[in-house]
Amino acid sequence: MMICYFKLIALTGYLIRLSIASIQIEADNCITDSLTIYDSLMPIKSKILSRICEPTNSLVSFVSTNNMMLVTLKSTQVHKVKEIHGYFEVIPQEKCGKAIQAIGNTALEGRITSPYYPSYYPPKCICSWNFQTSQKNLGIALKFQNYAINEKSIKGCKYGWWKINERMYCGYYIDHQTVFRVASFVANVEFQCSSKLSERPLLVEYASYNISQPCPLGSFECYTGLCVRQAQRCDGINDCFDESDELFCDVSKEICNTSILTQQHSLFCDGIIDCEDGQDEQSCTTSIPCTNNTFKCKDNICFRKRNAKCDGIVDCLDRSDESNCSCGSTKYSHKLHRIVGGSDTQEGEWPWQVSLLYGGIAYCGASVISKEWLLSAAHCFQGNRLSDPRTWIAHLGMRTKGKAKFISTVRRIIVHEYYNSRNHDYDIALLQLSTPWLDTMRWLIQPICIPPTSYRVHTGEKCWVTGWGQKHEADDKGSAILQKAEVEIVDQTLCHSTYGLITARMLCAGVMSGKRDSCKGDSGGPLSCRSKGDGKWFLAGIVSWGYGCGRANFPGVYTRVSNFATWIHKHVPTVF
Ligand code: ARG
Repeated sequence: MMICYFKLIALTGYLIRLSIASIQIEADNCITDSLTIYDSLMPIKSKILSRICEPTNSLVSFVSTNNMMLVTLKSTQVHKVKEIHGYFEVIPQEKCGKAIQAIGNTALEGRITSPYYPSYYPPKCICSWNFQTSQKNLGIALKFQNYAINEKSIKGCKYGWWKINERMYCGYYIDHQTVFRVASFVANVEFQCSSKLSERPLLVEYASYNISQPCPLGSFECYTGLCVRQAQRCDGINDCFDESDELFCDVSKEICNTSILTQQHSLFCDGIIDCEDGQDEQSCTTSIPCTNNTFKCKDNICFRKRNAKCDGIVDCLDRSDESNCSCGSTKYSHKLHRIVGGSDTQEGEWPWQVSLLYGGIAYCGASVISKEWLLSAAHCFQGNRLSDPRTWIAHLGMRTKGKAKFISTVRRIIVHEYYNSRNHDYDIALLQLSTPWLDTMRWLIQPICIPPTSYRVHTGEKCWVTGWGQKHEADDKGSAILQKAEVEIVDQTLCHSTYGLITARMLCAGVMSGKRDSCKGDSGGPLSCRSKGDGKWFLAGIVSWGYGCGRANFPGVYTRVSNFATWIHKHVPTVF
């Protein structure tokens, strides 16, 4: 065991900024190696500003709240080289917030940021900006980068609270921008940090806008506040980032109208008839010049190479030549004919199904996606103990509880950085096994295919949900034998109308009459859909949440895995 201490002290009244350029450590949730930054000279837990548990090569910086900082580098594996490169500076305290006069009606007038931007901002901050526009009919629009604010509920705010003209909001991080409009010519905007640790830097652009017409003529206002051209509504492309431009679209009327149904449209020639008259699938020439000797990528570009498919080299921009080379097949022949309203499965029927045991008890499900990686739900790993990989054991190749073909401890858990426990947005997590499963187990353990970003499930399509969870909402224990239930993909607009808070990272599946559903204990497990083309199984969803279990009109809500193809490949480059 090795621990290095770096004690940094500045003149009183000044602060310390530590910048880390690169760090070479073991990636396993800080079990073997960790870099910890304290807001004091003593390693006190409550004074932790940040912990780094993974190697990185991109510059990040942290600021103290006083003139002291302690940085410790810990390693229990001293035979391997551990390195950190960085530097520190003494900086003056920054006052944050000011009075801002917004002048005209231009798209962008300026920007405000969290303290010490682009460093992570320290806890205990308060900023206040007082905006005023030049005319009574102009309000203030705030465009948040990778962040959104929502009306505050009784619960506290995890990632900062905002007071805007006496109303309270909570902020949270997301993967796209949002616009918040204050319909008044004065706006008092107060931001207060609420996280105990340092937080990711915030950037907000502002401009004045016309209160009576927030979006320019001929454009549509998304739920995210962004404005998109009217022509982008119902075109099958998620221009609003939250899909609100693609909700409440009457497919047969709005899209199938020839003027809008262009070749770029995702419904066009996707092999499924969406328009009543079937015109979206007519005049689909297979004339795209892919001959037998070429491989056609999903985006219709051809590669003049015989072995583009599964040769280990990515040729297609969308990686489709290297996706699903060895996944999604089973030895079991699925004759398509607990989980609520399900039935017993057979041995080897769902070879990617995993049971995750927490403290010896079946707690969540997961899916095998490679020799050493599993995919599950982020909400299974919330809390101090649940986020510790050492408290989990994965059972693979199992039908009856307790009879797993392969058991492994968990080495590392990667919870999505934007997971939001308030609405279960980004409910996805990767788990790395301590020991990869062996090829000799192939008949009972198989990875499921990760759907590419372009993958679409269609309303009414039938998929399967599996798990050992509760068979009824009121049950208190799960099932001993793995259960399966056939569920239907529910229209996103319909699901949105029932639940009101379905994001683009979610999809709904069930039967509207209720009765067939996933339930408590199934979380993290797969929603498996079989491709009509090659019969391979795809992980369309991850069991995430729902109102009760199997209630009529309240389908199960699943994490939409195709949205995370890039995120998964970033962490697991070996999954094709
Ligand atoms: N959150 C639940 C769990 O932790 C899964 C709930 C799924 N609910 C539903 N109605 N489909 O196991």
